[in-house]
Parts: sequence; structure tokens; C-alpha cells
Amino acid sequence: MFFSPEPKTKIEDFFNMEEELSEFKEKLNMGKLIIILGLRRYGKTSLILTGLNSLGLDYIFLDCRLLPSGMFSLNDFLHLLEDELNRKSWAKNVLSNIEGVSVSGLSLKFRKRNQNVLLNVLKNLEKKVLVLDEAQELRRSNYRFDYLLAYLYDHVNLKIIVSGSQVGLLYRFLRVEDPEAPLFGRPYFEIKLKKLSSQKAREFLEKGFEQENLKVSSKIIEEAVNKFDGNIGWLTYFGYSYTKSGEPIDKILDRASRLSVSEVKHALNVYGLGKKRYVEVLKIVAGGSNLKWSEIKRGVEAKLGKIPNNTLSNILKNLIDQGFLVKVNGEYSITDPILRAGILKYL
Ligand SMILES: Nc1ncnc2c1ncn2[C@@H]1O[C@H](COP(=O)(O)OP(=O)(O)O)[C@@H](O)[C@H]1O
Ligand SMILES: [Mg+2]
Repeated sequence: MFFSPEPKTKIEDFFNMEEELSEFKEKLNMGKLIIILGLRRYGKTSLILTGLNSLGLDYIFLDCRLLPSGMFSLNDFLHLLEDELNRKSWAKNVLSNIEGVSVSGLSLKFRKRNQNVLLNVLKNLEKKVLVLDEAQELRRSNYRFDYLLAYLYDHVNLKIIVSGSQVGLLYRFLRVEDPEAPLFGRPYFEIKLKKLSSQKAREFLEKGFEQENLKVSSKIIEEAVNKFDGNIGWLTYFGYSYTKSGEPIDKILDRASRLSVSEVKHALNVYGLGKKRYVEVLKIVAGGSNLKWSEIKRGVEAKLGKIPNNTLSNILKNLIDQGFLVKVNGEYSITDPILRAGILKYL
């Protein structure tokens, strides 16, 4: 069913991304490191899981958002890995005889939680796929995961898929173009997910409602296509909610916008006392249309007093890297209309 809310894992539930899917398979076949990019809810996790399942590959899928907030340790990462290994029936066989791992009955446990065990385990995942979903989170550790990735790249016969909604942050972590960085010079493949065209969005909703045996007028479909702007995750959210409750679009949209603001708030927590300025910048950009740097500066200063130029530049850069703002021809706007509505009303 298209409207089931969790990330898709099966081709039957996966709407019309044949192009992306075949690109995924092709690049996975050719490369060792695949980078999947796209804003929140563009379908990255669904593409990865559906792609790997349809290829019948064994994989380890680590959702890096599940790591503790703030700085986390190698120990935390090993917990995440251990949990995922316990979900895979093949893992106990593959890892039963290696140092540092004990397998008893149904469960697998790391005897120690250090780099040796981590490397031992990963070395034994030959020919498998390691997925680091939302990998920009890995930068929040003193353990250097960029070195780990480079080591795996060079020495272990294993494919690595990383995904990121916060594209700028992901690249700040990977630094694939930085000659000083461990991953520099390793060939990699990139897949960028885009939003659906209005025609595809319409088709997605029509087919989805058909699967639910629900007749929905073309007026409502049209309105939803306009308001949810080709974001497959929001369209799914709409389809799911409408099927369940029949609520008016604006009510569903309002809930969606509140959800997206709670993600912004969470993401801005890292700035501590500086958060106030980030909030103000987002409100000013959301309240205008395609604002210039100087207009944003004036707006912030009117509310919060003087702000140094480099501070403002830094805030704008971070918000872009986090996927909340885009800059086109020197003008700034919010990346997603649902988020924009949420910022205006709830931030
Ligand atoms: N190709 C697709 N077909 C049907 N539903 C999809 C598809 N891609 C994503 N979705 C739905 O959209 C939402 C967001 O997808 P997800 O894969 O979690 O996105 P991301 O990982 O980019 O944030 C989920 O509810 C998912 O079920
Ligand atoms: Mg995801």
C-alpha cells in the first residue's frame, strides 16, 4: 500500500521510482561507496531498503538518528550495531566464531566494546552491505567514523551506503573532496532524490486512494498536490490521514507543519544560547519571499539588535547545510512549504 507510513521495503508498495531504483542498483553494482541525498521525506530510506531487498542482498541497516543526542561514544555505536545484528538471522552464523563476540541461543553479544571488536565484526561482513542512514549524525562523536569508513573502503570487501537529509552536514562529515581527509580520492557514487512532479504526485494520490478503495474528488487531489508540493513523504502522510479520518486538508497540513517544526526545534538545540538567532532568521525568511542577505540582516537586527556579519553568514550556512534553507541566485527561502507554514505558526 502506498499510504503505509513506515519507510517502504517492498517493491509492491514502492511508487514509481523505477529510474531511481535502477540507478541505485547500477551504482551499487559498480561502486563501494554510495551516497543517497535528498531532503527529509523524499524517500531515501525507502529507496535503500526496497533496492536492497529486491536485489536479495544481506545488509546491516543502522539508523544513526537512534544514537544518543549530544556527543556519543563508540560504545553507543556498538550497541546500535549489536541490536541490528540481532535482527538478522544470518549474522549469528557469520559471526559465531570470531573474537570478542559471543553467540548463545538466539542472541549475539559483544564481549567488549572497543575498536578491535568493531573491526573484527565488520571484517567478517564481507560481501554484505553496510547502510548508515542519516550518516551526518556520525560527526557527533570523538570516535573518527570518517577514518573507519576509509579503512573499510580500502581493506574490506563490503559495500557502504550512506544517506543524509542534512546534505551539507553529511559532506562536512565525509569531506570526500578535502585532500586532508581520510576519504579523499576514493571514488563514490551519488544519488540525489528530487520531489515528484505535480503529475506524478497526482498519480501517486490517485493510485493510493484506489488501493484503499476510497473515492476522492479530483478537486481534493488537486488541492493536496498543490499544498504538499511533490514531497512523497507528505503526500503519504496526507493519504494515510485522509483515508483514516477524512479530515479537511488544512487540518492535516497543520499537523504536518507542527511535526516538521518539532524537527527543526530538535535540530537547533545544538546551538544552545545561539538558538534564538537561528529561530529569528528562520521566521524572517519564512515570512518573506526570496529574501536577500541584507533584508535578513535588517529583519534580525530589528528584533534582536546588532548582529555581526560573519555570525549571520554562519547561521545562514548552517541552516542551508541542515536542509532548512535554500539559496537561489543570492536569495534565501525555506526548503519546504509545510515547514514554512509551521515556522510561521509554531516556531
Ligand atoms: N517510492 C515510494 N512509494 C511509496 N511511498 C514512499 C516512497 N518513498 C517514500 N515513501 C513514503 O514517504 C515517507 C518518507 O519516506 P522515507 O523513505 O522515510 O524518506 P526519507 O528517508 O528520505 O526521510 C514514508 O511514509 C514512506 O512510506
Ligand atoms: Mg530516512
